[in-house]
Amino acid sequence: MNTKKEIFEREFKTNRLYFEMMADWHQTHGGCAFEPEVVAAIDQYMAAQVLDAGCGEGSPAAWVAARYPSSQVMGVDISDVGIQLASQRFQMSNLTFQVDDLTNLSFDDGTFGLIYSQSVLEHVVGYSSAIREFYRVLQPGGHAIIRLANGHRAGKRFLPALLDVVRPGSRPQEVESDFSLTAGDYQSHSHNFDYAEIPARHLLATFRQTGFTIRFFTTRRDSSLNSEQFASRPFVYRVAYRAYCSLHVWPFKYLGPTSIVVAHKPPA
Ligand SMILES: C[S@@+](CC[C@H](N)C(=O)[O-])C[C@H]1O[C@@H](n2cnc3c(N)ncnc32)[C@H](O)[C@@H]1O
Repeated sequence: MNTKKEIFEREFKTNRLYFEMMADWHQTHGGCAFEPEVVAAIDQYMAAQVLDAGCGEGSPAAWVAARYPSSQVMGVDISDVGIQLASQRFQMSNLTFQVDDLTNLSFDDGTFGLIYSQSVLEHVVGYSSAIREFYRVLQPGGHAIIRLANGHRAGKRFLPALLDVVRPGSRPQEVESDFSLTAGDYQSHSHNFDYAEIPARHLLATFRQTGFTIRFFTTRRDSSLNSEQFASRPFVYRVAYRAYCSLHVWPFKYLGPTSIVVAHKPPA
């Protein structure tokens, strides 16, 4: 008989439980938990060939494929457990899933007209390589819509922000991961919640350095403000938290829990 520990280790080591939780989370958001800005950008820049970069268990890719039946959607993820679940859960004629590493994609140059990626780059070791790969596999004139979470606790962000004030500089540089995940061991890692902070200015600088122009950028949107869980919090907490989230005063500005970038690969 399996002990609790064995079951826990098996589930987490394969990440199956994690992906099932992701699937439930998308379900509670009507099938796909996209921020309104992401939906607007997808609608604006939709293309015939679309890449979901880091598709997980597939809910967002299936949502996009259903919304745009005449586009071909390719979902890739480094986790074969995620890809297996995605392929089992969603069978649509315009949707394909495959295992692939964003830092070394298997596609030819200029394959996609649109790439979108939700909650992935902050988990990718060497995220700037992924941005370079996005540039390579995008067609000239194509767009990349990148949504990532870059922090949840104000206190932890405050010090780097203050350091920026006394020691300004916006040279692009790789941000060190605060976890020991190394490329290739994603599946054996105990869970997928570790992430590296990517301050918005580093993110934007890396996009620009790669050759992209920035079409749209926003940060400090906290999608949890629309959740049922938030609605059930005490009134005082909700007022205070909303006030905190609406602080757009530098140096707080770039510390938001969510950044959304729409990057454009200039036409050849
Ligand atoms: C938080 S999940 C997001 C999944 C999906 N985008 C969603 O919104 O449901 C992060 C995903 O990034 C994937 N990932 C991490 N590093 C990757 C890499 N180098 N290449 C491809 N996928 C990667 C993980 O396997 C995981 O499925």
